[in-house]
Formats: sequence, C-alpha cells, structure tokens
Amino acid sequence: MVVWSPFKFNCGREMANRFAIAPLTTDSSHEDGTVTEHELEFVRRRAAGGFGATISSAAYVAEDGRSWQGIGAAHDGHLSSLQALAGAMRAAGGLAILQIYDGGRIAKPELIGEQTMRAPSAVASLRPGARTPRAMTSDEVESLVGSFRAAAALARKAGFDGVEIHGANHYAVHQFFSPRANHRDDHWGGTLAKRMNFPLAVAQAVRDALGSKLIAGFRVTPFEAEADGYTLDDARLLCDELAGLNLDYISVSLDDYRKSRPQRETRVYNGPAEEIPVPATSPITELARVIAGRCAVMASGGIKTSGDAEGAIEMGADLVAVGRAVVVDPEWLSKVRSRSEASILAGLPGDEREIASSLSIPPRMVEYMLSRPGWIPRL
Ligand SMILES: Cc1cc2nc3c(=O)[nH]c(=O)nc-3n(C[C@H](O)[C@H](O)[C@H](O)COP(=O)(O)O)c2cc1C
Repeated sequence: MVVWSPFKFNCGREMANRFAIAPLTTDSSHEDGTVTEHELEFVRRRAAGGFGATISSAAYVAEDGRSWQGIGAAHDGHLSSLQALAGAMRAAGGLAILQIYDGGRIAKPELIGEQTMRAPSAVASLRPGARTPRAMTSDEVESLVGSFRAAAALARKAGFDGVEIHGANHYAVHQFFSPRANHRDDHWGGTLAKRMNFPLAVAQAVRDALGSKLIAGFRVTPFEAEADGYTLDDARLLCDELAGLNLDYISVSLDDYRKSRPQRETRVYNGPAEEIPVPATSPITELARVIAGRCAVMASGGIKTSGDAEGAIEMGADLVAVGRAVVVDPEWLSKVRSRSEASILAGLPGDEREIASSLSIPPRMVEYMLSRPGWIPRL
C-alpha cells in the first residue's frame, strides 16, 4: 500500500511513510509560551507509533497575535522550549515540523490586551462575541512578515526538520487572502492578486530563513464556507503561485476530506453541515492538479483508517495528516499498521480525569476540546 512507502521532499528530507500527525493545539503551554511536560508527553506518546512526521501545535510568531495559550516561536527566550519539543517529536525517528501562526482578528483579547488586536482590516470575525480589530499599518504588515521569518530562523536553530506556515482555518495569513476579512487598498489587498501578497511574502520569507535543505510547508483552506468568501478557483491561483516558490508541500485543511468540508470561521461543529456549498470535484484533486508535482500535497480531515488514507492519496494527495483519530487513540498508527483497526478507540471516554490520565492529554486541552460540542467524538 502506498501509505507505507517512503516519501522524499524537494529539499531531500524523507518521511518513512505517508502519515503525519496533524498540528494539534493543546492550549496548555506555560503563560510565557514555553512548552509544558504535559505537552511533551502528549506528543512523545503519539509520535512513538512511527509517524513519518509530526507537525507541532501552532506556535505564535508575535505576542500580540496569540489565539490561545500555546507555544511561542517569537523570541530567543523560546529556543530551549522549541529544542525540547523537536526532541520529543522525533523521539521515534520521524521528522519534526514546527507550525507557525498569527491570530490576527481571532487573537484572544485576554491574552493580548484589547488595544492591540490588529488584522488586515477593521472587520470583526464571525465568531460569537468577536471584537472589531484595528487595521494594521503597512509597516506593521511588513513587520509581521519579518516575525514569520524570524520564527522560521528560530525553528532552524532549534533543530526542526522544517516549518509549516498556518495559512488556513481563518488565522492571519488566511485573513489576508480572504475578501471577507481583507478590505485593504494598498499592496496587501484590493484585488485577488494583492490579497495573495501576504501569504506569498510569508512563504518566501520562511523559505529564505530555512535555506534549501529544510522542509517548508504551507497549510491552506481550499475554499471558504462563508458567503462572499474566497472560492476554490481563487485557492487554485494561490497554490499555483505558492508551488512556484520552491515549497516542499501544500497541506489542504478540511474537517472532512471525503465531504470536502472546510472549517467554518464560527467553529460551530454541531450546526447544519449541508449549508456549505461543496465543489463538484474534490479540492484535493483540484489543487493537486494545479500543483502538478512541483511540491507534495498533504490531505487532512476525517482520516480514521488506512482506507481513508488511501482514499485521500487516490484523490491526488501524497501525504496525509491525522488529527482527532490520534488525539482519541494515542496508539492509532500502531493499530493501523498491525491491521488491528477494530481495536481503535472511537471517542473520548465520559470521565474528564480519565481522558487526561489514560490518554496523556493535558487537562486544559481536554477542557478546550470539550468546550466545543460535536468537535471530538465521545464514547
Ligand atoms: C484539538 C485540536 C487542535 C487543533 N489545532 C490545530 C493547529 O494548531 N493548527 C492547525 O492547522 N490545525 C489544528 N487543528 C486541526 C487539525 O490539524 C485537523 O486539520 C482537523 O482536526 C481535521 O482533521 P482530523 O479529522 O484528522 O482531526 C486542530 C484540531 C484539533 C482537534
């Protein structure tokens, strides 16, 4: 089966198989953005299954862009924390990739202070209770590109095999590309081509900071579920440009890859799904077509069995990222490998303390996940 065969990135680094652990925020770091022992244990146990790569929880690149209490890659004070994380991620031999992000208009006011919430434009997100951010000046936009560059340089220094830019799921990079969030009329917005400038500048800056021998990935939401959002055709143009920047992979973020269902900005998981207009052809197939082998394509969303993973590869992906399945069952990959899929845990147990202790999930992460009904399956 293709999923167990190795894969070599453009930069020369190799995954032993096609499975990656998807980026999974724990909301459980120390307040200063350093990693906790609970988080290291969460990652170590899951990576031990033999994943070809582990992608980290998203690390903030700027203090005023934090969306939860996660890890930071914002200054030299985060270096030893990042080194510890890279060590835990590759304990079983897989590659360690640091995901980096900025929250923009979905930063958390309690973490950053209300005065400083800044975004492409002064437009509030659709999340319940969202505040209106202020529009960034062009100097601030350039400085944010610099923060992504600096975070990638820090990841390199910390010993990661690469960096993934979080360009998906409504965070700042996504916001710059979205006509709903970006109403600018300068270099960074106004037309579709200009809305691409921020994602492309960040991708170029990260590639420059990493050099040619480390993995540079970019995670994208293939289309917006919201009215007036960007379309799959728009994302196709963005991916065409990104693939020209010597990236190693583009990761297509979906909540359910078989149903082509992207993450909504509201993050309400128990609402009616059928309202989302679904493209006739899978976004994975469409984007793989335009990327045309210039870099790898990673698929994610609802991968629970090896058959799901093979299905994503048949649609055009080279690699798959697995999220909730490996949250719920830390031994997921070993069970898939030994064809014991019937024994895979299908949901979190009822008791919160049992979730934390038996599954090595930081208690704050348990709270965070359970605060969104319908997000994580329960037994
Ligand atoms: C607890 C949790 C935290 C997540 N944190 C991140 C994150 O930091 N960055 C990101 O790009 N996606 C994040 N995601 C989304 C997952 O990476 C994945 O795309 C999504 O859960 C769909 O895949 P799945 O069905 O395999 O879980 C998170 C998902 C969960 C369940």
